[in-house]
Amino acid sequence: MTAVIGVGGDDLDTIHIDLQTGSPSFLIVGSPRSGRSTMAVAAAESLRRNGTELVLIAPQASPLWQQAERARAAFDPSNLNVENLAAATAGPGNLALIIDDAELVQDPDARQWLKTYLRSARGNERALIAAGSVEDFGTSVFSGWEIDMKTNRRGALLSPTATLQGGQIGVSLTRTHLSQSGIPGRALVNLGDGTIRTIQTPLI
Ligand SMILES: Nc1ncnc2c1ncn2[C@@H]1O[C@H](COP(=O)(O)OP(=O)(O)OP(=O)(O)O)[C@@H](O)[C@H]1O
Ligand SMILES: [Mg+2]
Repeated sequence: MTAVIGVGGDDLDTIHIDLQTGSPSFLIVGSPRSGRSTMAVAAAESLRRNGTELVLIAPQASPLWQQAERARAAFDPSNLNVENLAAATAGPGNLALIIDDAELVQDPDARQWLKTYLRSARGNERALIAAGSVEDFGTSVFSGWEIDMKTNRRGALLSPTATLQGGQIGVSLTRTHLSQSGIPGRALVNLGDGTIRTIQTPLI
C-alpha cells in the first residue's frame, strides 16, 4: 500500500509512504488553498495504481471526487451512514479510506466508526488518509479519531502559519520552517521517522 505524495531531497526523488509498515494513517493538514486536496488526490491515484482499492469521503466540490468513478464507493461527509461505510470497507485485499475536508465529518456514529476503523487498520490491509484544516484537526471540538491520527505521527503540513502546527504531524518546527508557506503543494512531511522533509506535490 504505497502512496506517492511528492518529490523532494537534493535529487528530487519520489517521496512515498508505505501504509503497510508503521502507522496505517497519513494526515494532510494545512491552510486553505494550500494544496491539501491535490495531495490527497495524488496519494489516492498512486494507491489505486498499485492495486489498493479506494473508499472516499469528500464533498462533491472536492478534487478528490474525480476519483469517485474508480473508487469502490464515495460518500458525502454530510450524509454518512455507518452500515454503508462498513459494507464498502469489508472484504479481503488492500483498501484505503481517503477523506477530504475531514472537519465536515460530524455525525457521531460515523466518527465512532472511523475511530474503530483506524484502530483496527494496522496489520489488517486497511489504511486511512485524511486531509483537513490545520486549525480544526484534533482540537477540543474534534477529539475522536483525529487524536489517533495525530498520535500516529505521520503526515504533511502545507503552508504552516505557526510553529505549534508541527504537533499535528508529530514534529517540532522552528520559525525557519514557516518561510516557504504560501507555495501551493509545498509541504513539510513526517514519513514516520520524525524527520522533517520538504516536498512538493505534483499537480495531476
Ligand atoms: N502541487 C501543486 N502544484 C501547483 N499548484 C498547486 C498544487 N496543489 C495545489 N495547487 C494550486 O492551489 C489550488 C488549491 O489547491 P487544492 O484545492 O489542492 O488546495 P486545498 O488546500 O485543498 O484548498 P481548499 O481550501 O479549497 O480546500 C489549486 O487550484 C491549484 O491551482
Ligand atoms: Mg481542499
